Amino acid sequence: MSDAIRVEGVVKTFGDTTALAGVDLAVRNGTVLGLLGPNGAGKTTAVRVLATLTAPDAGRAEVGGFDVVRDAHRVRQLIGLTGQYAAVDDALTGTENLQLIARLLGMSRRDSKQRARELLAGFGLAHAAGRAVKTFSGGMRRRLDLAASLVGHPQVLFLDEPTTGLDPRSRLDLWGLVRELVSDGVTVLLTTQYLEEADALADDIAVIDHGRVIATGTPEELKTRTGGQSLAVRPAARADVPAVVSVVRQLTGVAPDVDGQLVTAPVTDPGVLPAAVRRLDDAGVVLAELTLRSSSLNEVFLALTGLPAPQPTPAHDTEEART
Ligand SMILES: Nc1ncnc2c1ncn2[C@@H]1O[C@H](COP(=O)(O)OP(=O)(O)O)[C@@H](O)[C@H]1O
Ligand SMILES: [Mg+2]
Repeated sequence: MSDAIRVEGVVKTFGDTTALAGVDLAVRNGTVLGLLGPNGAGKTTAVRVLATLTAPDAGRAEVGGFDVVRDAHRVRQLIGLTGQYAAVDDALTGTENLQLIARLLGMSRRDSKQRARELLAGFGLAHAAGRAVKTFSGGMRRRLDLAASLVGHPQVLFLDEPTTGLDPRSRLDLWGLVRELVSDGVTVLLTTQYLEEADALADDIAVIDHGRVIATGTPEELKTRTGGQSLAVRPAARADVPAVVSVVRQLTGVAPDVDGQLVTAPVTDPGVLPAAVRRLDDAGVVLAELTLRSSSLNEVFLALTGLPAPQPTPAHDTEEART
């Protein structure tokens, strides 16, 4: 299987800031790469280089076999880009936005109309086709933005934090649309700060931090690489949380994570499970849950970057019109 995207040693600086410090990436045809990293990691800069919007200072990048600098016009014919911030025109209607793009891509008036209609229907926006975009909710706007990037039937799609600020339901809707595109053969490079999103959509993940790719692999590979498993203990009574923390700390040698009544810690020795049962029993702690589970990507993120994974902060956004 050939690569739809190849990036080798790409460097990009802005004054004193090194946004990309020698990035290597490969995205196989027809797959989703999740480029995962915290704010300021270099995700948007990487997308802008690949979308021919900014030239690298060093290194090279290819999309569909074409060099993003030398063959920029060929690359532009292959790609669609959905930015972190919606790029559609507020004053125009949904239909007008899509028709405008289609006309700019050289489609006839009739084909433009047809393409706009099918995209609006496919993205659940037919009911709002004739409304100015400024009356759309955030979720509707993001769907229109995605539709706009698909007008020219791109083979390679860049989605830069496509669900940032969306409520959970709109996020799931968008995930569904991305999955459909991928099943139609589109290659996707998706940037995200959300592990959950990378885990849900990506075939492969590249973790980027301070302009460097610090880990790559499938979601499963990344989870097993960082120690593999974690011990999770939930006492039946909240008052027993400190006792559980103390036992888990003694057994694992690390300070456990406490989330409500759930106490978790990474483990390398599965023998801690029976030991934990005995010690907690001796301490008279009644348990609601005691499990050994695979590390979550959150734990991977923490182990790799030293930062807790950002959590989605849903906007108070509904599918209703903001009039
Ligand atoms: N046009 C620019 N001018 C100056 N600095 C920039 C510019 N674009 C990005 N940067 C800096 O480069 C770094 C990476 O930014 P960016 O690629 O936007 O990260 P991300 O998308 O992962 O949040 C940040 O430190 C950012 O401030
Ligand atoms: Mg960004």
